[in-house]
Amino acid sequence: MAETFAVKLEEKSYLPDPRCKATAWTPDYTRAYQEFVRDPEAFWDRIARELVWFKPWDRVREWNYPYAKWFVNAHLNITYNCLDRHVAGDRKDKPAIVWRGEQGEERVLSYDGLYREVMRFANSLASLGVGKGDRVCIYMPLVPEQVIAMLACARIGAVHSVVFGGFGPDALAMRINDAEAKVLITADAGYRRGKAIPLLGIAREALTHAPCVERVVVLRRETPAVDLDPAREVDYGDLMVHAAPECPAETMDAEDPLFILYTSGSTGAPKGIVHTCGGYMVGTYYTTRHVFDIKENDVYWCTADTGWITGHSYIVYGPLAVGTTVVLVEGTPDYPDPGAYWQLIRDLGVTIFYTAPTAIRMFMRYGDGWPAKYDLSTLRVLGSVGEPLNPEAFEWYYRAIGGGRCPIVDTWWQTETGMQMVTTMIGEAMKPGFAGKPIPGAVVDVVDRAGNPVPPGTGGFLVIKEPWPAMLRTVHGNDERYRAYWNTIPGCYTAGDLAVKDQDGYIMVIGRADDLIVVSGHNIGTAEVESALVSHDAVAEAAVIGKPDPLKGNVIKAFVTLRMGADPGDGLSDELARHVRKSLGPVAVPAEIEYMDRLPKTRSGKIMRRVLKARELGMDPGDISTLEE
Ligand code: WT7
Repeated sequence: MAETFAVKLEEKSYLPDPRCKATAWTPDYTRAYQEFVRDPEAFWDRIARELVWFKPWDRVREWNYPYAKWFVNAHLNITYNCLDRHVAGDRKDKPAIVWRGEQGEERVLSYDGLYREVMRFANSLASLGVGKGDRVCIYMPLVPEQVIAMLACARIGAVHSVVFGGFGPDALAMRINDAEAKVLITADAGYRRGKAIPLLGIAREALTHAPCVERVVVLRRETPAVDLDPAREVDYGDLMVHAAPECPAETMDAEDPLFILYTSGSTGAPKGIVHTCGGYMVGTYYTTRHVFDIKENDVYWCTADTGWITGHSYIVYGPLAVGTTVVLVEGTPDYPDPGAYWQLIRDLGVTIFYTAPTAIRMFMRYGDGWPAKYDLSTLRVLGSVGEPLNPEAFEWYYRAIGGGRCPIVDTWWQTETGMQMVTTMIGEAMKPGFAGKPIPGAVVDVVDRAGNPVPPGTGGFLVIKEPWPAMLRTVHGNDERYRAYWNTIPGCYTAGDLAVKDQDGYIMVIGRADDLIVVSGHNIGTAEVESALVSHDAVAEAAVIGKPDPLKGNVIKAFVTLRMGADPGDGLSDELARHVRKSLGPVAVPAEIEYMDRLPKTRSGKIMRRVLKARELGMDPGDISTLEE
């Protein structure tokens, strides 16, 4: 990894409407943070008590570097908090899931309805021999049954491993084998841009290399229904018809595993990140409620897929633990047209909207006209996650979607952290380009290689200095890879990101540490150059890589996609070079610019610079199982 480096910070800040702050669950960030620091265990104890436990903890936390236990010896079941608690209270008839299909189909499941489905499916799984601790792989489209399957596993203590429905057979087989899943839950098809994706076909192919799977549950959506292989495959609906309706929640220890989820793999081979029941529940419940500031009548839409951690934490467990109404949409943001999302927000009265910068930049490219067609005045809070939200995208999101009215929470976190760690809490001043400060509950800093905090304006490594409830506990089957997170910088969890703080403690995430280019001895963050390129009117998205150069060590090559109507002809490259020079200085100017129709990305939307680099240098791109088709 590189040494620390200077970053020029340009700052602009927005103060949200003071009314947001007055009514927020965390009305005073500074005070809440101080309270947390004064006594972290008391802080988490108080939050955990808002939930139902079968047996209370002996201690809030046990920290035996680098191993943490949270809510030691407590017993719980996360589904009890996501379902039973609400059904017994006054959310029985409240919509839990509002699902929309690509063709406009709608399904609404109340909390009571979801509860019943989950219990039946939990019994169905048990009838297939699934029990506590068994691994179950879920490979499904974005339908309510995917959420039901996850919760049903958790209900009986089985450990789910959700594999994103866009992965191919090899990626699926690798994940099934690594987790040694004994049951696979899938569907005949998912729908995307009006086309059926043959999930069952892909699953069958994967299973030829994954002998550990004994039974396959198939949700059949197509007509006529596909034939199943009676020796191994069983119909979801048939199972449900025969299953008993009641299924009490299994008693789980707080430290029992809840799920395994493979990291998106934009670097290296996928790792099976293990999350546990108690701490994960508390961490996702708290952040969902406080970061999005969810109130009883909110309608919440996170556009992620449940196949990613964002979906696990902020479609399923966090929002359902809070008891909110969750919108779930199968389909693509610009299908049937680029107004599809805005129309849904209007039709469903969405109040909280959580999406990714890659989507925001895509919408920017389609122009202001699409969102302007729809009344988006129900929106109250906007969120972003997945990569840096560059200032231009922030401004557009704030203005064109939020009407200059909605706070934006740019949330930094990872599959490994399980919960959001850095953001600008509602009511605090927002600075475009900066995710914000550590949330009350998280100790995050920017340090040098020795673990010393770097001064404002100096870039360094983003680290976490104290354990947190939703932290990963291990990497499935490879604890050494877990320890590596804590071994790189003394005393710290190393996130693998480069960042910089300003004088107010706001953190700007620059990009992955391995996405750094050294040009003539200067460290240049790919994300920084990309952000500069994207700030030009003609540019939609940009990816930059380092190309070995005999003189400079490396030069920068940029791959650029243009906005609608922009022309790569006459002098655009020169103009872009000037533009970057003006914002970052001559050292950051790309030596070469190539225009592309689209950039290679992981299915979760991260640009795969590694693939561009390999192509450029005629090298082997390595594992590309996470590459979008
Ligand atoms: C990596 C984690 C956490 C959910 C989705 C991704 C990048 C994430 C931000 C943000 C800048 C961000 C980081 C991080 N990242 N959120 N708000 N600003 N960068 O999960 O696949 O585990 O990726 O995504 O590089 O390390 P993931």
